[in-house]
Amino acid sequence: MAEQAGWQGERLTIGLLGGGTVGAAVARGLASRAEEWGIGIAGIAVRDLAKAQAAGLDRIAPLTTDPAALAASDDVDVVVELMGGLDPAMPIVEAALKAGRPVVTANKLLLATFGARLESLARSTDTALRFESAVAAGVPVIGVLANDLSANEITSIRGIINGTTNYILTKMESEGWSYDHALAEAQKIGYAEANPKSDVEGEDAAAKLVVLARLASGAWPALSHVQFDEAPGITGVTAAAIADAGTRGARLRMIAEWQNGGDDASKDSLSVRVTEVPADSRLGTTVGGGNLIVISGDLIGDLTLAGAGAGPGSTASGVLNDLLAIARGEGSSWGDLPPAIAAPAPAWIKAAKRGAK
Ligand SMILES: NC(=O)c1ccc[n+]([C@@H]2O[C@H](COP(=O)([O-])OP(=O)(O)OC[C@H]3O[C@@H](n4cnc5c(N)ncnc54)[C@H](OP(=O)(O)O)[C@@H]3O)[C@@H](O)[C@H]2O)c1
Repeated sequence: MAEQAGWQGERLTIGLLGGGTVGAAVARGLASRAEEWGIGIAGIAVRDLAKAQAAGLDRIAPLTTDPAALAASDDVDVVVELMGGLDPAMPIVEAALKAGRPVVTANKLLLATFGARLESLARSTDTALRFESAVAAGVPVIGVLANDLSANEITSIRGIINGTTNYILTKMESEGWSYDHALAEAQKIGYAEANPKSDVEGEDAAAKLVVLARLASGAWPALSHVQFDEAPGITGVTAAAIADAGTRGARLRMIAEWQNGGDDASKDSLSVRVTEVPADSRLGTTVGGGNLIVISGDLIGDLTLAGAGAGPGSTASGVLNDLLAIARGEGSSWGDLPPAIAAPAPAWIKAAKRGAK
């Protein structure tokens, strides 16, 4: 078992849960660095063995369709969860942390839904939980917030954190495509999933915003604390609205924003909204699948991080860095930040509940 003070064994062995876009890139990245790093793969869990064999993953490590058994195997020192979704990811991650087995995940939905519970569990068993690639893939926004800016009071976080919707918006803008045509093109090149709801309705961005807010505020907001436009995400954007913004020297971007409301976390605001930004601003000039995040702190002022917020290479970069951090005994992604609680419901939710009574 890995120890918090640094890996004491001769070789660190991972159980890789998922061999899809990210899992395959992690497997290949590790295979080429296994000797140098002393990190090996005990097995790779997938649903479709034939697909994984066709991708050559069986030549890297044994395949299994039982992720829970792989994660619990005595051969495994660190669980790397890259399946996505809540089930079976949540019970497996929970069992690993309970058993004192470190976990790396890129699963923002898991963290946005169960972050408070998982953090409390990881702290109680003194087991590392790392998730750099859950937001903006390998762009190191989690590490920067948790470690490099810890002297700051973070006042706001604002940015483009969903590459699929940014690709659609910017193609509608530059090529004059309709929303439906841009979405179909995004699906054709593998940017948008067959079911694009989570991306285009802003749910994926909302989950990432919750993770960023936890590191900035010290409390885990619920996904229900994020406010959306009436037509959520980019679903209400039309070619006419884009052209109209253009006449004002502006562009439309789907902006995820967290605003610090002060000592009372229920006054923080979280939103994912299509917003006009100046065409020549850094947000306005972020095109295609790029991500750009502006973190504002009382000491640092505005700090901008930008890069590939999705894709196999960038996401594998964050996952592999997390593995190296575990090997060095660096602990969880929240670093030395104090334990976080679940955030109280914001005033607008309480008011809506009172109104409903
Ligand atoms: N793709 C990106 O650019 C990106 C960026 C940042 C974060 N992430 C996150 O990384 C995670 C993985 O994303 P991805 O794009 O790699 O997804 P993906 O391509 O759909 O891969 C998922 C993998 O998990 C396997 N899997 C799913 N459920 C399973 C189960 N019950 N038992 C065994 N294997 C199972 C799948 O097997 P089969 O293929 O055989 O079904 C597949 O190998 C997600 O949490 C995602 O949000 C992705």
